[in-house]
Amino acid sequence: MKRVLAAVLLGFGLTAGAVTASVEDEIRARIAPVGEVCVQGEDCGSEAAPVASASSEPRGGSEVYDAACAACHNTGAAGAPKLGDADAWGDRPDKGLETLVDHAINGFNAMPAKGGCSNCSDEEIEVAVEYMLTELE
Ligand code: HEC
Repeated sequence: MKRVLAAVLLGFGLTAGAVTASVEDEIRARIAPVGEVCVQGEDCGSEAAPVASASSEPRGGSEVYDAACAACHNTGAAGAPKLGDADAWGDRPDKGLETLVDHAINGFNAMPAKGGCSNCSDEEIEVAVEYMLTELE
């Protein structure tokens, strides 16, 4: 009898774990941002395409950039240094990758934390910054 009870409890425990995980997924989907940051005065219609939902594989630098950074960094919105525009970037690269990544992750003046991409991992933000720096070379 005890063994049956143990098996039942064990079964319940496993099911409860699985249920919790799926509820967590659901909550995560529900609290995902409904849109991207769009600076007033900019036509963000097509460029602010929703960021692809979190996948298990980290996205590459240009992929993250196109999804989360291009809206501002292609246009120079709000004073964002434009992609590949060495003049606009000025001496920013001299701050070093670590500082630039820190600013991209945590925000810097008008630069929102992670560019507003809440489902971007720190690693994905880092490869996006690296991509932006290689575009200056
Ligand atoms: C809402 C517009 C906006 C989005 C989206 C955005 N940026 Fe920015 N970004 C800015 C602005 C504005 C600045 C300039 C901030 C300043 O120097 O005051 C900036 C500056 C930066 C800098 C330079 C920081 C420094 O220390 O000089 C980096 C690196 C950067 N952004 C990376 C990113 C990355 C990576 C993404 C995408 C994940 C991104 N940005 C998305 C607006 C944006």
